[in-house]
Parts: sequence; C-alpha cells; structure tokens
Amino acid sequence: MYETILSPVEIGGLTLKNRIVFAPTSLGLKGEELEQKITAIAEGGCAMIIIGDVPVSDRGFFRLSGKKGFAHYKRLCELIHAGGSLACAQLHQSDSDVKGMLRYIPGLLTKKITAEELRHLLNQQTGRYITQLSSQKVSAITSSFGKAAVLAKQAGFDMIQIHGDRMCGSFSSGIYNERTDSYGGSPEKRAHFAVEAVSAVRQALPDMTIEYKLAVRQENPHYGNAGILTEELPVFIPMLEKAGVNSFHVVLADHSSLTDTIPPANHPYFGEEGCFLRYCDCVRKITKLPVCGVGGLTDPDFVEQQLADGRIAYAAMSRQLIADPAWPDKLRSGQKGNIRRCVRCNAECLGGIQKHRGVRCIYDKAEP
Ligand SMILES: Cc1cc2nc3c(=O)[nH]c(=O)nc-3n(C[C@H](O)[C@H](O)[C@H](O)COP(=O)(O)O)c2cc1C
Ligand code: SF4
Repeated sequence: MYETILSPVEIGGLTLKNRIVFAPTSLGLKGEELEQKITAIAEGGCAMIIIGDVPVSDRGFFRLSGKKGFAHYKRLCELIHAGGSLACAQLHQSDSDVKGMLRYIPGLLTKKITAEELRHLLNQQTGRYITQLSSQKVSAITSSFGKAAVLAKQAGFDMIQIHGDRMCGSFSSGIYNERTDSYGGSPEKRAHFAVEAVSAVRQALPDMTIEYKLAVRQENPHYGNAGILTEELPVFIPMLEKAGVNSFHVVLADHSSLTDTIPPANHPYFGEEGCFLRYCDCVRKITKLPVCGVGGLTDPDFVEQQLADGRIAYAAMSRQLIADPAWPDKLRSGQKGNIRRCVRCNAECLGGIQKHRGVRCIYDKAEP
C-alpha cells in the first residue's frame, strides 16, 4: 500500500525520500510557535519543506541579506534537517507598489478599507506598476534572484523554488504586462523576466536544483489574472527549461480571489480533490521534467493513484500537512485511519492569516 507515495524520487540530482512535500505556506507565526510547527511538519515524515515567500529584495524584514533574516532562515533549515526533511527556499519578489499602497494606510487604520478590499486595490495597481518599472530596475531585480540563491544555499537550503507568481507572474501575464520593451509584448518577451531570474540562479549555483512555481491561468471560465495562459505554456515551458529549471510546481495563477488559489471544498470550480491537476496534464504534454501537483490533495488513495499513473512525480500539500503534519508517517506505519483529513474549510489556516493570528487548524482545538 502507498508504495509510490513512500518511494524516493530524484529532481535535478536531489533525492527526495518520498513523494510528499510541504507546499510554500506563509505561516504568520513567530518564535517558538513557528519553530514547533516547522519541527512537527519535518518530523511528520514529508520529504521536503518549502519555506514560502523568502524575499530576494535587499529591503524589509527577513531578507536573506540581513543578519537577522539570515539567522532566521539558518535556524529553520537546522530544524527541518533535524526533523529528517530537506529545506527549499521559495524566492519571491513582490509586485505590490509600496508607494501606491501608502495612500490606503489611513483607510485601513480607520477600518474604512478591509484587508480584502486593500488586496483588490493593490491588484488594480499591479499592471501600471510593472509596466512602468525602468528596465534597469527590472534587471537589478532579476539578478537579485541569483544573489539571494547563494545566500539561501549558505543558510542551509537544499533546493530553490522560484515563485513564478508575484513579479514573475505579473510580467508573464498578458493582462498586466503592457510594456513595449524586451520585457513585454509577445509571450516570448513576457517570459523574459522569469527566464532572467531563473538564469541568474542557475549561473550563481550551477548544481542547485531549481523548481519553478508555474502559475497557470485560463479563460472560459476566467480564473487567475497573473501567470501564463494554458495556450501560452508551449512558449514559456521550453524557455524556462533551457534557463535551468529542473521541475515545475503547477498551480492556478494568483491575483484573483484568495479562495481560488486556496480553494475551499465548496468552491464552484476547484472543489474537487486534486483541483489543479488539470494544469499538470497540460504541462506534462510539453516537458519531460518532473511535475509537482498541488491543490486539494488530502486522500492517500487518490494521491497514490495520481503518482502511480505518472500524472505527477511528487505531491505538495499545504493545508493537509497543517491539519496533520504526520500524514506521511501515518501511511508508513499503517495508521491511515488515524489521519486528520483536511476538510478544506479555510477557517483557521487562511482565516488565521486573514485575522492576523497566524495559521492554525480547526483540529488544534481538539488536541489534548
Ligand atoms: C495559510 C496559507 C499560506 C500560504 N502561503 C503561500 C506562500 O507563502 N507562497 C505560495 O506560493 N503559496 C502559498 N500558499 C498556497 C499553497 O502553497 C497551496 O498552493 C494552496 O494552499 C493549495 O494547496 P492545498 O490545497 O494543499 O492547501 C499558502 C496557502 C495557505 C493555506
Ligand atoms: S482549518 Fe480547515 S482548511 Fe485549514 S487546515 Fe484545518 S481543516 Fe484544513
């Protein structure tokens, strides 16, 4: 039972001990609570933990280039390794216009604007922001992916994931990117930013395994605003592969509603188990590189079947490993019946982030 889930897989020369990884998840927790959560997930038996939203920028808190930030990530890597898992850094560059955001702060403080409304307002600015960035700034940002990757390796990370949403995703998108220089226009030109970011990491670290979080969007019905249209994948994927990508982590693109990218069980379009695997099917037709599936994966039998059928090479889970970090170990030790299955309610995980309480789960209350 579950021999495929529990079997190793190689990605770009790196061996994962099994096929389950913790998807990038900003936990909104601090200090001991964060360390306990990461330790529990590592000790629960997954092969790798992807630390979400590690900034490539030289500014802000928790940047790899700062003393505090570097120590923070080094500590997380130590905990992950001690728990028997590998560590991956999700390198990202935000596409929010910080200056544009400042004008909404008074409204936010006086509660005239909710956090969800702010998100919507910022999304509306994305196109103008990335279209107007000077080409010097753009190439400085793409080269910062290389510098951040070197620091991530020094901090102890075993793999790099390039966040193909956020700035990579908004440059990729025909909805947002209205540039007329070499970074905008045709799909080839819209791929330029992402390709440069990947190349910077590959050049800085020739042997590092690079996973690309491939943010896919679709029309009819319309879902996702950033990222790459399914029809454009045949242009983007070979370019990213040539630049040095070793695997693709495939999701719905962002900048629509958060409940589309983190869909609850009652979502009208993405409610089913394995809700984004339809995009993996598109990607698999174009590349032979390993494809990682994510989104609504909770059922061991379903996950085993997708892996055994070769639909995906490995599976990422965010909410399921929040609900029960020991999902992989319970399968290994024949305790499938004791797994706390994520019901995709979003109440305490996404809800916890939105209420600034940090990620929790409805099952936590039932813990002894
Ligand atoms: C609380 C929370 C925080 C998340 N933070 C990130 C993040 O920092 N970066 C990212 O790329 N995705 C993030 N995600 C999205 C997940 O990686 C994943 O794609 C999504 O939750 C669907 O997978 P799931 O059904 O296994 O939860 C987050 C998801 C949740 C629930
Ligand atoms: S709160 Fe609900 S959706 Fe979130 S991890 Fe727990 S069961 Fe899953």
